[in-house]
Amino acid sequence: MTTAPPIDPALEGAAPGGVLVVDFGAQYSQLIARRIRECRVFSAIVPHDASPESVAALNPAGIVLSGGPASVWADGAPSLDPGFLDIGVPVLGICYGMQVVAQALGGEVAKTGAGEFGKTALSVESREGMFGDLPASTAWMSHRDAVVRAPEGFRVSARTPGSPVAAMESRSRRTYGVQFHPEVVHTPFGTDLLKWFLFEECDCAPTWTASHLIEEQVARIRAQVGDGTAMCALSGGVDSAVAALLVHRAIGDRLTCVFVDHGLLRLNEAEQVEQAFGHHFNVPLVHVRAADRFLAKLEGVTEPERKRKIIGEEFIRTFEAEAEALGDTKFLVQGTLYSDVIESGSRDASKIKSHHNVGGLPEDMAVELVEPLRQLFKDEVRVVGEELGLPERMVWRQPFPGPGLAIRIIGDVTQERLDILRQADFVLQEEIRRAGLYRDLWQSFAVLPAVRSVGVQGDERTYAYPIVIRAVTSDDAMTADWARLPHDLLETISNRIINEVDGVNRVVLDLTSKPPGTIEWE
Ligand code: XMP
Repeated sequence: MTTAPPIDPALEGAAPGGVLVVDFGAQYSQLIARRIRECRVFSAIVPHDASPESVAALNPAGIVLSGGPASVWADGAPSLDPGFLDIGVPVLGICYGMQVVAQALGGEVAKTGAGEFGKTALSVESREGMFGDLPASTAWMSHRDAVVRAPEGFRVSARTPGSPVAAMESRSRRTYGVQFHPEVVHTPFGTDLLKWFLFEECDCAPTWTASHLIEEQVARIRAQVGDGTAMCALSGGVDSAVAALLVHRAIGDRLTCVFVDHGLLRLNEAEQVEQAFGHHFNVPLVHVRAADRFLAKLEGVTEPERKRKIIGEEFIRTFEAEAEALGDTKFLVQGTLYSDVIESGSRDASKIKSHHNVGGLPEDMAVELVEPLRQLFKDEVRVVGEELGLPERMVWRQPFPGPGLAIRIIGDVTQERLDILRQADFVLQEEIRRAGLYRDLWQSFAVLPAVRSVGVQGDERTYAYPIVIRAVTSDDAMTADWARLPHDLLETISNRIINEVDGVNRVVLDLTSKPPGTIEWE
């Protein structure tokens, strides 16, 4: 007998009043949870082979069964434990989720031969339940099998040309199914249908707001840390910053933040962290100025992976030394996000060990992790950051790699070359922000190659470095496209860099998407 996978322990205490998404492997499971959260109702994903008892124990107000890539007729297709239908809360099956409900309750699912994909005309047969007066004339479909007979006691409330049962409802069972996808924007009435389920059927209250979340996390952190002390490695990025502020709100000065400044940050970035945490929020902050140490280790190193390794190791050594100096600290704060949790599968958060958020933390530190962002998506972290008063620059900072400018300087990393890149990057950032494009770009930055070229400035021949402008759009950094920056903006950036940065006589633009290029140059 196989045992069901564990449910993320961070869910305990978070789910009452929320709606859980039972995941049958759909690409849209996350999207369903996000849409529900956008309605200010807590939502999280649980695996389809979790036991109904363990899900019921979380006290959700309702359950959504997600779609999935499988045919219910395929060997090994994930099946529905009928126990999920008897938890006593309303259930909404979406796509595959509706098909498994139909199958479990004696309806009929058939391979109809043809599928339905994309925008599809929907014919509403009954407006007594979920459809009410919604303008439901088209919906977005993505399926091959179809429910051809609803289970006994279910009313068929909508059809499409390829789905004789495109929606079915049983008010007495409080069980509902839709073949289409209400969670995608291409189903125009989709969010309203979800709202009907959340607020009319599940009786949820729209209380899951940033301030509610902060209160809830503060209480949890206090319960976890008790009268202990904690530390947090700040990177300058939004995740570690928000995690630190939540913990600081919970336990005050018993949190110490350690900011390892490896000298590879952008202009003024270290000062911004110092200003925000050390001064504005008054968080005990150890600012380790370790630039010399890192630069000495990097001397003469040109191979990108070797740079990464050296910086990672040095980071760990530096952090360990600070941790030791802090004495008996049992808790380590990390900005792990919900997307990290989903990607790595559920794991027991109380089981120690760190992982590599901030360029790598010690593998073997005997500490317990405090991860207050484990239930949040990135954009939700930003909302919480804004609510906590984190400066806009930090809340909306574009991703920045742990090894910093070292992997944007091709070849030798020297103080002189760092200064050149820092100045050029500063100009570029300033102009991108001024043009109002900063938030639209996944990343925008300058790269310093290891070649020089001839130029003429005034009456003098120059032999100096070029600067590469790299700006990309992306959703998740897995793929990216080069950003079509306006020519006027490029002209301003180029002129300013050449006029203001000593040692640069040429500016070029990187027109490579990912693949084939990576976003960073090293
Ligand atoms: P690439 O260059 O692989 O980058 O397309 C994808 C995303 O990852 C970031 N990146 C890193 N982040 N340590 C980090 O913390 C690293 O060594 C590293 N290398 C790349 C990069 O900025 C982009 O967002």
